[in-house]
Amino acid sequence: MPLPVDFSQQVKSSTDIVRIIGEHVRLKKAGNNYVGLCPFHQEKTPSFSVHPTRQFYYCFGCGAKGDVFRFVMETEKLSFPESVRRVAQRSGIPIPASEPAGEQASPERRLRAALEGLHQKAQEFFRKQLQSPEAAAVREIIRKRGLTSEAVEEFGLGFAPGSGSALANFLSRQGFPPDVLEASGLVLRRDPARDPGGFFDRFRNRWMFPIIGEAGKIVAFAGRAMGSDQPKYLNSPETALYSKSHVLYNLFRARDTIRKEGSAVMVEGYMDAIAVFQAGVRNVVASCGTSLTEAQVRMLSRYGSEVVVSYDPDSAGVAATDRSLALLLEQGMSVRVLRLPGAMDPDEFIKQTGAEAYRDQLKAAQPFFRYLASRALELHGSNTPEAKLAGINFVLPFLAKVPNKLIRSELVADIAQKMDVNTGIILDSFRRAGLERRAAVHVSQQMVQIPPAEAMLVRLLLENRDACGEMSKLLEEHALMEELELQGIVSTILGMNSGGSAPDMAALSDRLDEPHQRLLAQIVFDKDARPVSLYEITSYINSLERRRLQRQRSTLRRQILEAEKLHDASRYVELLGQLDTVFRREKELDTELDTLL
Ligand code: UTP
Ligand code: MN
Repeated sequence: MPLPVDFSQQVKSSTDIVRIIGEHVRLKKAGNNYVGLCPFHQEKTPSFSVHPTRQFYYCFGCGAKGDVFRFVMETEKLSFPESVRRVAQRSGIPIPASEPAGEQASPERRLRAALEGLHQKAQEFFRKQLQSPEAAAVREIIRKRGLTSEAVEEFGLGFAPGSGSALANFLSRQGFPPDVLEASGLVLRRDPARDPGGFFDRFRNRWMFPIIGEAGKIVAFAGRAMGSDQPKYLNSPETALYSKSHVLYNLFRARDTIRKEGSAVMVEGYMDAIAVFQAGVRNVVASCGTSLTEAQVRMLSRYGSEVVVSYDPDSAGVAATDRSLALLLEQGMSVRVLRLPGAMDPDEFIKQTGAEAYRDQLKAAQPFFRYLASRALELHGSNTPEAKLAGINFVLPFLAKVPNKLIRSELVADIAQKMDVNTGIILDSFRRAGLERRAAVHVSQQMVQIPPAEAMLVRLLLENRDACGEMSKLLEEHALMEELELQGIVSTILGMNSGGSAPDMAALSDRLDEPHQRLLAQIVFDKDARPVSLYEITSYINSLERRRLQRQRSTLRRQILEAEKLHDASRYVELLGQLDTVFRREKELDTELDTLL
């Protein structure tokens, strides 16, 4: 549920970033800042800095940076709104009631709220039906498939009777109006010519799996056919509540474990997810009746960075593995692949060989590049140079998706070894295919020399909004922006400031390129920084102008000599006039400084 727009600003300004980060990182005071070991990369000497008043952290080792929300998002794998709530809670700031849910709410919100209520009611109905005499056969099937009653309870399994309109009638009696019924996708309108206002059930004579969205509410159902009815699984259609490419089955139950372990197990089917979960592997998710989507991967990556793909060993499963691998790698996930021996899917495997055997298989799941190398060998063999080349061509597109260059080149070496080809050959094909990505920006540990007065200027601009106006006038009037070494930073601050808001460090940093982000951090976290002295800044700007005037002077002198040689009298006079203006401005500068003293 959305929070009021300016709530995050309010939370940010009344939160002590040092305290929140201090819960994760041991921080020591250094000057006005705090430093500690960076939680985002391995290091032995602290290069992670937190600025209490600028509300900002920056790591001089890896370039990680941001405000308190970013920190909580990254360390606790939360979305932005979740992190705002989390920080508000920790800082004891009351969370305002979200948008009105009643009469004033938008029609979409009202529909969604009604649909949530409807799905809840439908779930109660399906669960109750599972206990009915009609459902005896289903209960038997469920039992035979090895589902414990705890699992039935935990996963909320139910039964949709075969009568044709049992759910529709039930929901109507509960008072859901026809438009809401229809929007739910759980019931369908009968032919209006014959039965106006009548509905029949989408799910008939199926056992039912509720699908839970990220907010923990039921947003859809899947129904499994009892015998060999087609389709085997019927899923809810897309509705105002449910977009199947954005929901992962079991994520809501799995996410705490995924966070804790940093890793998720991805299976193909609902039953696989339940069986794997029952086997004690609680970080398991499945995509719901579709192949994996980018949105699902992005969602998953908020909770953990590793995925073990455990799909069916049949050919469809292998093809799905290839597709999912590409997607996962692209999103920077680290991927392992579990190939179960034999022809059983995870559910059958667990039933046949036991939970422990499956957990062992999981532990032994190989890194994706080993998997790819064996796939390449299976597909093409390695007897002829042509076969090897085909194998390389199979592997390359996957490698190209790995965002980190260093990891990529290690992978190349590993795969080359496994496929028994020269590393150079793979690298070469890489280059020829134009697949080599731009090298990641390397953040050097070295500090850059910044003119102290410019650092002071930047600090002044960050602290004092009024100063921004004056300084921008001064710099513009005398066209001095280009003379600044930190032109990029200064002009960005002034640009943001003309918008009227005080410059926010995190937002400012986001607008700069990496070298400038680093320079800015260096200025802000300089613990030896002297207090801002207006005199020093002005005299520096003065000196910049002087430098420019000197350059102008020598250019003018040269041009005057030329005009003399060419006996160009009018040009000569004009240039002398310009030189005079330069002299006079230089005089002015002297007195300007004197008045400041
Ligand atoms: P499978 O055909 O592998 O089924 O489909 P399964 O998961 O092993 O199911 P059981 O063990 O036979 O009961 C894998 C997944 O593909 C989707 C479902 O999400 C299913 O769990 N699927 C399959 C459908 O959406 N519709 C179908 O008709 C079949
Ligand atoms: Mn199965």
